[in-house]
Amino acid sequence: MGIEKFTDVKPSEYLYNPEILTRLDFSRSPATFSPKISAAQPGEEWLKVRPLQRSDYDKGFLQLLGQLTSVGNVSKKQFDERFTQMKQSGGYYVTVIEDTRVGRLIGAATLTVEQKFIHNCSLRGRLEDVVVNDTYRGKQLGKLIVVTVSLLAQEVGCYKMSLDCKDKLIKFYETLGYKMEAGNSNAMNMRFEDPS
Ligand SMILES: CC(C)(COP(=O)(O)OP(=O)(O)OC[C@H]1O[C@@H](n2cnc3c(N)ncnc32)[C@H](O)[C@@H]1OP(=O)(O)O)[C@@H](O)C(=O)NCCC(=O)NCCS
Repeated sequence: MGIEKFTDVKPSEYLYNPEILTRLDFSRSPATFSPKISAAQPGEEWLKVRPLQRSDYDKGFLQLLGQLTSVGNVSKKQFDERFTQMKQSGGYYVTVIEDTRVGRLIGAATLTVEQKFIHNCSLRGRLEDVVVNDTYRGKQLGKLIVVTVSLLAQEVGCYKMSLDCKDKLIKFYETLGYKMEAGNSNAMNMRFEDPS
């Protein structure tokens, strides 16, 4: 199955054009897959790599994100509005892996694209919200979803892709081409108590 069959869903229901995933060249990634898999050929006919869909509220998307961090009680209406806002503003590439046997999402990662004036009006990618359902971990799906959105960043014209991660995941990301840059690898946060 892979990602070839996109015609059964209205294009408007995808967060971004799924065709772009068919163009990703996995040979450009330093990641090694054994056995070899890609977004187009994820290794099992019941696995599908695709953009987030509006209907994914009912396919366990928020429950999947709940394995990464606190999600809160997001209603279907809130999800729908956020989906519309992301789609209208552009630059949000929420990408998922579905187990089509059960109609549930089992992996996700997001590329967000920042538009800049610097570097000749460049685009910078950020990798966000990477998660694989705990019962599916250790089967290369984490690598698959991260490599997919990293290649996507290149495909849409980003000059670099950045991420923040827990220390224990540094090695994982290094195998996928990310580097700690000497003197330039600090993540700092300012947290606000009552975001309105
Ligand atoms: C991190 C995560 C996405 C990896 O998914 P996965 O499907 O298990 O990853 P893969 O099977 O593709 O593993 C790839 C490699 O990374 C290693 N790895 C995976 N998770 C790891 C972890 N938590 N700590 C250290 N190494 C890890 C694996 O051992 C594997 O190494 P190998 O190729 O040498 O065998 C998954 O563990 C997860 O969802 N964790 C909870 C959410 C999270 O922490 N997200 C990342 C936020 S930055």
